[in-house]
Amino acid sequence: MPAFSASVPGKIILFGEHAVVYGEPAIAVPVTSLHTRAIVTANIKGESGEIHVEAPDISLSAALFDLQDNHPIRAAILAAIGPDKDPASVPACNILITSSIPPSSGLGSGAAVSAAIIRALSAFLGKRLSDEIVSDLTYNVEKIHHGTPSGIDNTVVAYQQPIYYQKGDPFQFLDIPEPFTILIADCGIPGNTKDAVERVRQNSINDPDKYEMIFQSIGQITQEARELILAGLPAELGPLMDKNHQFLQDLDISLPELDHLVNTARNEGALGAKISGGGLGGNIIALVNGDTNEICEALSKAGAVNTLVTSINT
Ligand code: PMV
Repeated sequence: MPAFSASVPGKIILFGEHAVVYGEPAIAVPVTSLHTRAIVTANIKGESGEIHVEAPDISLSAALFDLQDNHPIRAAILAAIGPDKDPASVPACNILITSSIPPSSGLGSGAAVSAAIIRALSAFLGKRLSDEIVSDLTYNVEKIHHGTPSGIDNTVVAYQQPIYYQKGDPFQFLDIPEPFTILIADCGIPGNTKDAVERVRQNSINDPDKYEMIFQSIGQITQEARELILAGLPAELGPLMDKNHQFLQDLDISLPELDHLVNTARNEGALGAKISGGGLGGNIIALVNGDTNEICEALSKAGAVNTLVTSINT
């Protein structure tokens, strides 16, 4: 029996994280140089229902039902099997998960793992799922990662295209007539989206007027960014990234280490820079043009444990 494999990219949020949880728009794009892959192979000697998972990157080697009930990998496998099928009737198989997307860094690794498992296992079971269904099933698993996901991560990794996303509205693919370059730098402290989302939620309960104003301002920035991207003027996005970062600081989800990388990128000639993703660690992104070696070097000296340059296009 052949192997069934699926590869899913990472993602960055260009504008609008956190505010998107409160109904404001956000822009996210896939990062195609980072991938999670799931490979499902039949275990011809095994009994029906024997599903074994290997994820060497996180030192996981376990049978499906040895994983805790709320383990996202278990949830993704059960989502691919579907509620109408008894997992005990699934042909014995091994699922191998490998990933170049660093976990807990705002690059969508959780959503990518789920989407890759859902795609590969459903294909193994003879089902062809639409991108929409992959996105919906991934969203349900995302709820385990952090209770109230906006839905942006699962959408961008399932459709693998730049999107303009607003909760409750159909999302829009975002055309990028003029490609641009983004530098991603990891501050070395694992991000914690769940804690960051919870912190913002608590703060917004304590000071609703201030937080509503911040969310709306971020939403306004995202709309302006969309216009600039559509108009083929990405070089003008820099000041909007700087403003967005300021509002993320106001939401209290930045760290001195992240601010230091943002400032370093700007001082070294980036056109703008901000946190990307949930914050409290993870990555910053910077809009760059020309030679990026010097900025990457300066960011490494400023504490970045990893830098990656990626082209953003449709
Ligand atoms: O940290 P990430 O890459 O999972 O991004 C989280 C983005 C938030 O807006 C903070 C949460 C969400 O569900 O949209």
